Amino acid sequence: MSAIDVAFPGERVNHWRSFHSGRPHHGRPDIVTRLLIPAERHPDERRVAATPETVKRLTALGCECLLELGAGLAAGHADAAYEEAGARLVSLDPAIWHSADAVLVVQLPSEEALTALRPGALLLGLLDPHRHAPTLQTLAARQVSLLALELLPRISRAQAMDALSSQANIAGYKAVLLAAAALDRFFPMLMTAAGTVQPARVVVLGAGVAGLQAVATARRLGAVVKVSDVRPAVKEQVESLGARFIEPPELPEKPGESGGYARQAGEVFLEAQRQLLAPHLVDADVVITTAQVPGQPAPVLITEEMLSLMRPGAVVVDLAVAQGGNCPLSRADGPVQVAGVQLIGAGNLPATVPQHASALYARNLLALIEVLLREGTLTVDPEDPLLDPALIGHGGRWRRSDLQPRPAAALQQEVVA
Ligand code: NAI
Repeated sequence: MSAIDVAFPGERVNHWRSFHSGRPHHGRPDIVTRLLIPAERHPDERRVAATPETVKRLTALGCECLLELGAGLAAGHADAAYEEAGARLVSLDPAIWHSADAVLVVQLPSEEALTALRPGALLLGLLDPHRHAPTLQTLAARQVSLLALELLPRISRAQAMDALSSQANIAGYKAVLLAAAALDRFFPMLMTAAGTVQPARVVVLGAGVAGLQAVATARRLGAVVKVSDVRPAVKEQVESLGARFIEPPELPEKPGESGGYARQAGEVFLEAQRQLLAPHLVDADVVITTAQVPGQPAPVLITEEMLSLMRPGAVVVDLAVAQGGNCPLSRADGPVQVAGVQLIGAGNLPATVPQHASALYARNLLALIEVLLREGTLTVDPEDPLLDPALIGHGGRWRRSDLQPRPAAALQQEVVA
């Protein structure tokens, strides 16, 4: 029997066992499931998939948590705190990888580590299936089950597991701080003996979770904020944060949204949108771009020509750089200057706030595991509407034929660890 039981409608999985030897782990009948939390390997990644808080809860639920030595250090958690919470600290080797029933990660581990996973194991994390489809397809064929958190549906049951939102919130906040640090002016209006300083003018492109947090943070710092999005529904949210909404172009073709996500706009619409945005950029001190369409290259909203119209010293922070950028000149590997404008490609800002990013992400994972655990056993029901879209590999099958690798052009700027 595989490590992960497949529950069919009407069937209850109701037993405990060790997945390795047929005996309970370490002679403890209360431990049924072994979870492995490796340290993240990507050079700019400082988050960790479990915190002492979530390890404590997982242990109470009957899981054995194996944590790679030092895995939480960059996120502010010492090994001793994990031990106190009930984790067992390990040095990783192929046998440990092979022994795991489930592996909890932030990003996809190295291919070498993944080859040690055994059939029936479950890998949970932000697996970035568009970027890593070939690797993940190979894993799926080896009967490793794959749950990609970014593909969980946006339904009420999934809210506590919504890692995209928890991390986007952090990215939006940090983007504004980066911009403020790089800007040659204050953000707030200041009245001083030497005269009055006007507040910074900020434009936010995309009013999803990251964009709305960027608006709120820029407002808290005292900036005057304008926002563009293709979903008219966000106008009210934007205005409730004290910002002005830039209406999308009035064209018969409207991208709108589907299932809580924006749909890709056509080139005619995007060209009209760029023309509409240009005068707002001329006035701006800071632009934060967050516009994305899941699984697609980011819409191009700022061209080189538009950058050249901005004032020297202005700052653009492009949060969509990993998807090709809302400005195609953004680079994931560092800021660039274009016509005196500082363009900062910011691909993984949550990793720069690792303690809170890990705390929220680990709780997202915990909420998901709580749903999967039945009587201490991980149970994946592929027909559960919560899991169905996110379970990209299961039972030896790749379940999302619509997910294919991104075109090379969209990948060219990405920093692939
Ligand atoms: P996202 O990261 O996929 O995209 C960011 C924003 O870019 C979106 O608001 C999108 O409309 C916008 N965008 C796309 N193309 C654009 C263009 N050409 N110009 C300007 N803006 C453009 O979105 P995110 O942050 O993941 O969430 C989008 C929405 O999903 C949220 O605002 C919310 O309404 C909904 N949501 C629902 C949840 C739930 O029901 N559980 C949880 C989280 C979000």
